[in-house]
Amino acid sequence: MEQAINLSGTSDQDAYTRLRAELEKGAGVEIVVTLDNAGTGVLSLMQEHLWGEFEWHPLSVQPASFQFLLKKLPAKVARRAIGEFLGADHRRCDESFIKLENAAQNQDVSGAKLHFAQFNLAMEQHFAMEEEVFFPAFERATGMTQGPTMVMRMEHRQMRGLLAQAAQALTQGKLEGVSRAGSTLMILMRQHNIKEEQMLYPMADQHLGKDVDGLVRSMQKLAPVSK
Ligand SMILES: [Fe+2]
Ligand SMILES: [Fe+2]
Repeated sequence: MEQAINLSGTSDQDAYTRLRAELEKGAGVEIVVTLDNAGTGVLSLMQEHLWGEFEWHPLSVQPASFQFLLKKLPAKVARRAIGEFLGADHRRCDESFIKLENAAQNQDVSGAKLHFAQFNLAMEQHFAMEEEVFFPAFERATGMTQGPTMVMRMEHRQMRGLLAQAAQALTQGKLEGVSRAGSTLMILMRQHNIKEEQMLYPMADQHLGKDVDGLVRSMQKLAPVSK
């Protein structure tokens, strides 16, 4: 049920009204939305009125246009949690990787470029949500600055290294190189995500208590990284 809507030139309020009407059509709605701004105005309105009912993921960040995927959640989540929010984002990154891997295996250069750009953006956005919002909050709440978050940051650096390798292979048109870097990245990513989902996120949801819902808002509100 994916559709595309271009809201360039539309005011934040009108864009929000239009998107809300689309989301009201029911579960499973997925919309590729294009805006001519960074989307913060629309997102503020959505968080204010539709909290727990939607998710959004950046697809493309250009100087004059921003494209994101807007999804309606299957059921309203009244109080969001770290594990639920970031765990779902892991699934989203995995799905994005599979599209890249398929394009690379089919020797589809333009598809691989598109899906690499989307996957890279999804990963950078996820890393930014963790490194700029979640890890600092976890460290403040637990006093643990040399513990799990330090290891997770180090693993992010390793994954960024593999993303850079894949990017380089792609610019040289070497799709086998993309697949090779991608396979190693996938192994690292799986191990990393298991550690976060089974240990770090549950610890955070426990320690951060009532602050969790606000923290998820801040992560979702983080400006898309333009890489
Ligand atoms: Fe992470
Ligand atoms: Fe993560």
